Amino acid sequence: MILVTGATGLVGAHLLYHLVKNDEKVRAIYRSETKIEAVKKVFTYYTDDITLIDKIEWFKADITEVPAMIPAFKGVEKVYHCAAFISFSPKDYREMRKVNIHGTAIIVNLAIDAKVKKLCYVGSIASVGDSLNGALITEENEWNKEADNSGYSITKFGGEMEVWRASQEGVAVVIVNPGIILGGGFWQTGSGKLFSQVYNGFKYYTEGKTGFVSVKDVVKAMILLTNTTIKNERFILVAANKTYKEVLFAIADAFGKKRPSKKIKSWQTAILWRFSAFVSKITGVQPLLSKYSARSAHTVSEYSAKKIEKAIDFQFEKIEKSIADTCKNYLK
Ligand SMILES: NC(=O)c1ccc[n+]([C@@H]2O[C@H](COP(=O)([O-])OP(=O)(O)OC[C@H]3O[C@@H](n4cnc5c(N)ncnc54)[C@H](OP(=O)(O)O)[C@@H]3O)[C@@H](O)[C@H]2O)c1
Repeated sequence: MILVTGATGLVGAHLLYHLVKNDEKVRAIYRSETKIEAVKKVFTYYTDDITLIDKIEWFKADITEVPAMIPAFKGVEKVYHCAAFISFSPKDYREMRKVNIHGTAIIVNLAIDAKVKKLCYVGSIASVGDSLNGALITEENEWNKEADNSGYSITKFGGEMEVWRASQEGVAVVIVNPGIILGGGFWQTGSGKLFSQVYNGFKYYTEGKTGFVSVKDVVKAMILLTNTTIKNERFILVAANKTYKEVLFAIADAFGKKRPSKKIKSWQTAILWRFSAFVSKITGVQPLLSKYSARSAHTVSEYSAKKIEKAIDFQFEKIEKSIADTCKNYLK
């Protein structure tokens, strides 16, 4: 039996399809029935045979609640831990610690107890350290806890530390550290917003640069790594390093829409996030832009994915194709 956490999210939903397609027995953690509808939609991107989804054993639980999670591990041999709370708002820091660190600690403890054969954890490039000299960032770059890190980055690093603890307790682990994941189905959250906003005429771009990867490559790498004897390693998953401008332009082109035309400079986002924080304090509404999302919009970080390419002869799909396919799914 395979256990998937975060099954109703972008990575989890696409992962579920690839697992059940391979006839694996899958138990999927969910919190609300309505989110299962989004998973069904993702399945339609791959197949007309929607009955495939009936092969999933759905298990309702919050990963931060130990009593609810204990029965989820019955008979489990492999775990894909995709659940996380993703936010750049300082207001969400406490909740992010709870889900991303304590929730992962619970998964780790139960995986140790259940003597699972393999635990695959979805980390992030947010928990890989920067390069000082502009060199490509690799798995060896140490995350700097003294830096002004976002709450998301701190909690993803904390989650990863819990997973390394599992490795010390005898569980074979693999960690993937994806860049921004592009894929269909969740258009109002995460990278899905890039697609819906460009489609709806978003006009602005920045020239920050980071790593991008398709969700299909993420889940393919996760399954391959989990099914090899490779253990206790982390792998950056980045198909290409691109500027936000390049990605937004590619999305606009794939939709046949007008490219964003207004470049935002870093001083403008600096004013905007401060103004957003001020308004948020008064109104209690989530800020439009946080300090960390404003900063990352202008930061240039480039990643190397040589390690996975070499370890399992992995070939990433061209990011232009991932963008075009995601746009097609959006139009569906
Ligand atoms: N998206 C990206 O660009 C990106 C990039 C790098 C790394 N990652 C990492 O990839 C993983 C998957 O991300 P994603 O994009 O799939 O995120 P997502 O679409 O936001 O999905 C998050 C999933 O976690 C679940 N979850 C959150 N809190 C939970 C809790 N307390 N108990 C049970 N389930 C809970 C959510 O359940 P509900 O549906 O009930 O809310 C959802 O299924 C995360 O670890 C994330 O940090 C994502």
